[in-house]
Amino acid sequence: MKLLDLYCCQGGATKGYGDAGYHVTGVDKDPQPRYIGDAFHQADAVQFVLDRLDWIRETFDFIHASPPCQLDSDCQRIMRNDHPDLIEPTREALELTGLPYVIENVAGALPKLKQPVELCGLMFGMTRTYRHRYFEAGGGWTLPQPHHPRHEAPQVKMGRPARDGEVIQAVGNFSGVGIVRDEWDVPWMNRDGIREAIPPAYSRYIAEQFLAQRRQEAA
Ligand SMILES: C[S@@+](CC[C@H](N)C(=O)[O-])C[C@H]1O[C@@H](n2cnc3c(N)ncnc32)[C@H](O)[C@@H]1O
Repeated sequence: MKLLDLYCCQGGATKGYGDAGYHVTGVDKDPQPRYIGDAFHQADAVQFVLDRLDWIRETFDFIHASPPCQLDSDCQRIMRNDHPDLIEPTREALELTGLPYVIENVAGALPKLKQPVELCGLMFGMTRTYRHRYFEAGGGWTLPQPHHPRHEAPQVKMGRPARDGEVIQAVGNFSGVGIVRDEWDVPWMNRDGIREAIPPAYSRYIAEQFLAQRRQEAA
């Protein structure tokens, strides 16, 4: 399987697809010296797709896209940050490829996502991560919604180091980078990358679901 990871950052999503055996090419507008995928292009994600539609159709089996979520995250709304909304243009570009895809985003973007599936760290055996993220599946496949276990542990208060048993919040200038590196299995990431990332377990789940559907169709 060959996968294009748009808005790849340091490669949280990429790692999960890689763990499932995919070959991953990342695209980000910024240089990403820590990126851990198989290939990297520095470019505007939508323009990259629009400029290479034929090559993308021939080369890739699946596209993951994590357009920047700052516009929709509560803290940024409070700060009245003026980031462009890239969900709609990204979906339009993905539809042009005709390939199966997921678009990932945060709760604030839910009204813009079509039939989103919610993922949470508890679904994947993580004990210190809730980090809800939402995934729109498109291009001819469906992503099943896993069971969402009850949240029992308290979340650490922002700006305070996490105590044993507390769930961490990897946002802003959080403390506990080492805890997150271990829990998510992202040892190459720094705080900037973690703050932006999805835990690789989420994309590994997507990768495995997609493979299972393809195998079923081929049987
Ligand atoms: C939420 S992060 C993605 C996190 C990634 N999925 C992960 O799991 O590690 C969004 C990324 O989009 C990049 N970005 C923002 N605007 C972009 C654009 N127009 N084209 C390409 N990348 C862009 C940012 O530099 C940032 O690295």
